[in-house]
Amino acid sequence: MRDFLTELGIQPVNSGVFAGEWVEKPSGGTIESISPIDGKVIARVNLAGDDDYHRAVDRVSETFKGWRKVPAPKRGEVIRLVGEKLRKHRDALGKLVSLEMGKILPEGIGEVQEMIDICDFAVGLSRQLYGLSMHSERPSHRMYEQWHPLGPVGVISAFNFPVAVWSWNAAIAAVCGDPVIWKPSSQTPLTAIAVQNIVNDVCADAGFPALFSLVVGSRHAVGEPMLADKALPLISATGSTAMGKRVATVVAGRLGRTILELGGNNAVLVTEGADLDMSLRAVLFGAVGTAGQRCTSTRRLLLHRPIANELTERLVSAYKQVKIGDPLAEGTLMGPLLNTAAVDTMQKALEQIKKEGGEIIYGGQPLAEMAGGCYVKPALVKAPKNLPMIQHETFAPILYITEADTVDELVAIQNDVPQGLSSAMFTDSVRSAERFLSVAGSDCGIANINIGTSGAEIGGAFGGEKETGGGREAGSDSWKAYMRRQTSTINWGTELPLAQGISFGD
Ligand code: UN1
Repeated sequence: MRDFLTELGIQPVNSGVFAGEWVEKPSGGTIESISPIDGKVIARVNLAGDDDYHRAVDRVSETFKGWRKVPAPKRGEVIRLVGEKLRKHRDALGKLVSLEMGKILPEGIGEVQEMIDICDFAVGLSRQLYGLSMHSERPSHRMYEQWHPLGPVGVISAFNFPVAVWSWNAAIAAVCGDPVIWKPSSQTPLTAIAVQNIVNDVCADAGFPALFSLVVGSRHAVGEPMLADKALPLISATGSTAMGKRVATVVAGRLGRTILELGGNNAVLVTEGADLDMSLRAVLFGAVGTAGQRCTSTRRLLLHRPIANELTERLVSAYKQVKIGDPLAEGTLMGPLLNTAAVDTMQKALEQIKKEGGEIIYGGQPLAEMAGGCYVKPALVKAPKNLPMIQHETFAPILYITEADTVDELVAIQNDVPQGLSSAMFTDSVRSAERFLSVAGSDCGIANINIGTSGAEIGGAFGGEKETGGGREAGSDSWKAYMRRQTSTINWGTELPLAQGISFGD
């Protein structure tokens, strides 16, 4: 085992179930975690069976009864210690993220930094779970609201941010008084096991060993039971729109709550007069970073006609210089896709794009000579605005370039997709910027000026509209989804006046 795997407690064979302690022989079968870097097995994981899931959820429910009574600032102290442990293991965990899902090391470490940041945010938040007080219309009455813990939270996360998305939910849920049960992607079980190993001492020392529990397992044994489980009043799920529709339907069927973080189809708009150097760098990071596998990845480049040729040419030469290879090696800008199935999906998408009249102006080919079969050249496609494939999120480095004559037209094209996560305009015109941010501008949850579509900070609420699912995670007041609001009216007088001035048998 490599040093960083040993540091993170990864064994050749690992349990994928933690329910206050590691469950020694979970009953759901064994999977291999394969690195997309070279197609080799990193380690094996024993999956949760149905019985393991129920055992874990029972422990988490039990934990809730005690954890909810711990004062919020004391809960914050536990998250402060989690943040300290993450600082200690930041580089090792960042390396494992790269090894298991393929993003380059600076992005792997950046992802762990995002975990540390949300812990810091959550610590402060633990002293700021404010409710409002209102003026009652009745004399000698006081009215106010308070926020109580909601209950255990089920977190379902995706392979592309295998650890950060858990932390956005877990850190906030924990200070809100909610324990968390986590179903990570079966593509990235080792990063989840490593996170569990990192936080375990802190939780055990605090007297709540099952505060964060883990169930790596199939949709059948874990995913579906979680959705249907009344013990989990909130399910926070990240993944495809198809998956989100299933989550929404089942959880709504029991009147549970969801936070959904689903597909994106994010556009960068560039107007005449924009800083093209900055635009270029942002588009490159947005479209090629994480090999186009962020939900915030830039998938569409919408260009004002006067600058279209220049920016397109500069982009083609920048794409030619992108160093593709081992994501752990210094200087690599683009690692492999998750697996060979992702390569196939990308190839099929490119075929379809050609059939529909899109013109591939650069890249797209698999790099068959490289180990593991997961490396591709990122693709640039010139596309008319009505190309049907543009409506779909292909989770791969394909960037569509479309031109338009006016800013209004750019905005209309930007909004003309089913998804609504992230969007960005590069412009030096205050009119165009404000037009983009106005009520008739971008319809996305994130709308940036002179910043790309990906790489959001944790301090803002993260999420999007339409088929992106409407959920908000991380900063701002996203915490409210993890708590239940109670409105209390207190009569300290000697009369019983009714609201709305109603007299009833007076
Ligand atoms: C995701 O791709 O699921 O804004 C999350 C970003 C990151 C998070 C992406 N902070 O790109």
